[in-house]
Amino acid sequence: MTNGILKGKKGIIFGALDDKSIAWKVAERCAEEGAQIVLTNAPVALRMGGIYDLAKKLNTEVIPADATSVEDLENLLARSMELMGGKIDFMLHSIGMSVNVRKKKEYTDLNYEWMKTTLDVSAISFHKLMQTAMKMDAMNEWGSILALSYIAAQRVFPDYSEMAEAKALLESFARSFGYHWAKKAKVRVNTISQSPTVTTAGSGVKGFTDFFGYADKMSPLGNADALSCADYCVAMFSDYTRMVTMQNLYHDGGFSSMGMAPEILE
Ligand SMILES: NC(=O)c1ccc[n+]([C@@H]2O[C@H](COP(=O)([O-])OP(=O)(O)OC[C@H]3O[C@@H](n4cnc5c(N)ncnc54)[C@H](O)[C@@H]3O)[C@@H](O)[C@H]2O)c1
Repeated sequence: MTNGILKGKKGIIFGALDDKSIAWKVAERCAEEGAQIVLTNAPVALRMGGIYDLAKKLNTEVIPADATSVEDLENLLARSMELMGGKIDFMLHSIGMSVNVRKKKEYTDLNYEWMKTTLDVSAISFHKLMQTAMKMDAMNEWGSILALSYIAAQRVFPDYSEMAEAKALLESFARSFGYHWAKKAKVRVNTISQSPTVTTAGSGVKGFTDFFGYADKMSPLGNADALSCADYCVAMFSDYTRMVTMQNLYHDGGFSSMGMAPEILE
């Protein structure tokens, strides 16, 4: 299913680590739909994953940037505009990491220094990206900025730990900055709240496999996979969604509207 709906658009995709990453699929789908893109990830991640294979396949460049560093973001935006020959039309923030979850700290015994890093990487980086892009006047009018979120921002999923707060902050930044971007350049800002998805970040959550099955049964359409999330991102980057902004958009096969699923009781 390709319709060239991103033809002529220029985008930056954060967070493609390996071929399971949601951002990996988004990058592939954006290229298929005719967009010109630049890939970026934290310098440390570039060593681990296969991002350079993806760049080769899509005939594009990788520009390293730690999303918590304003200096790195300035460099990324400047070099991207230079490479693609103009301002940016869309950006995907597909970044999440919890130090306390990684180190298996219980929610009632969190390390606050680690929490600061979690919030910086997973949420404040989104504000940093938007503020840097605004100061550099890097976005074209009617552009689209997206970040990926999870329903633990609204409801309690105990094993998601401090990432719940990180996602709540992320969604709030999308709403608040969405106002300023709309006024400045009619740029829209949204978060997509995605189903559990089998990726490096997703699988790091305790009990992920069991929970993945639970969510799949709870969702009338089943869990949304990474490829369908990529299709939704493409739609949100396209001109067909120009009046959608400051929203948290559920992409979860119906999970968020369910109360009880008989399948779970069987
Ligand atoms: N997998 C799921 O179940 C699921 C569900 C809902 C939302 N999400 C969200 O989707 C997004 C993408 O995650 P994923 O599941 O594709 O996993 P992933 O592990 O493939 O992607 C996470 C990315 O964040 C990058 N990253 C970490 N620290 C960074 C930094 N300082 N600067 C720049 N990049 C950094 C990693 O290198 C990696 O590429 C995350 O925001 C995640 O919370 C995932």
